[in-house]
Amino acid sequence: MSHNLLHGKRGIIFGALDPNSIAWHVAEKAYAAGATFTLTNAPIALRMGQINELAKACNTEVIGADATNYDDLKTLFTKSEELLGGKIDFVLHSIGMSLNVRKGRHYTDMDYDFFHKGLDISAISFHRVMKAALETNTLSEGASILALSYIAAQRVFPDYNDMADAKALLESIARSFGYHLGKAKKIRVNTISQSPTRTTAGSGVKGFDSFFDYADKMSPLGNASAESCADYCVVMFSDLTRMVTMQNLFHDGGFSYTGISQDIVDKMQP
Ligand SMILES: NC(=O)c1ccc[n+]([C@@H]2O[C@H](COP(=O)([O-])OP(=O)(O)OC[C@H]3O[C@@H](n4cnc5c(N)ncnc54)[C@H](O)[C@@H]3O)[C@@H](O)[C@H]2O)c1
Repeated sequence: MSHNLLHGKRGIIFGALDPNSIAWHVAEKAYAAGATFTLTNAPIALRMGQINELAKACNTEVIGADATNYDDLKTLFTKSEELLGGKIDFVLHSIGMSLNVRKGRHYTDMDYDFFHKGLDISAISFHRVMKAALETNTLSEGASILALSYIAAQRVFPDYNDMADAKALLESIARSFGYHLGKAKKIRVNTISQSPTRTTAGSGVKGFDSFFDYADKMSPLGNASAESCADYCVVMFSDLTRMVTMQNLFHDGGFSYTGISQDIVDKMQP
């Protein structure tokens, strides 16, 4: 679909690891919508190489940056401005990692070094990205900044572990920084709370398949795919949503407002 909604817009997309990544789909859709952007990921993810294929397809470059390293982020913003030939109009933060999840630590017995690392990568990095953008003065007036979240920020999903706390912090940072950036430069900051999606990060959560099927049966529209999430991101980057800020926007096929569905009732029948 070519609607040119992002014609002339410049962006930075974090977090495309492989073709399943939500950020990968966002890059493809943003490119099709006429945007130019740089791609970025942690140095270790770059070594896996797949992101270069995406860069080629989107006629762009990859700039490595560890989201926990402030200097990396400042360099990313200044280099992106240089490469793209102007200030940045949109940013996607699509980053998540929990060592407690990875190592199978139970929430009630978490390792606090893992917890700190997880919060730093998954949530505080969002603050760091915006601070780096401010300090380098590389964002345009009215820019749109997005991060991806999950409903475990509001409701308990036991196996989501400390990522739930990270997402709650991430959404709070979106509101707090959103206020200041809105006042300063009419910049919008929002989070999109996405359905369970089969990706490297998603599938790391214990019991992911049951989790996925349950959400699919609960949601009147079914689970939202990564591709449809990318469509929503494009709309949020566009000028059509210039008065939306400091929101957590559910993109979940109706899951968040459904108490119970007939499909689940049928499943529960003896
Ligand atoms: N998959 C799901 O079910 C789901 C649901 C809701 C929200 N989300 C969120 O979507 C976002 C993207 O995840 P995904 O599902 O596409 O999985 P993914 O594994 O493809 O993406 C996660 C990305 O984070 C990057 N990353 C990790 N540490 C980093 C660091 N230090 N610096 C820079 N980048 C780093 C990884 O390299 C990877 O590209 C995450 O915030 C995730 O929590 C995912």
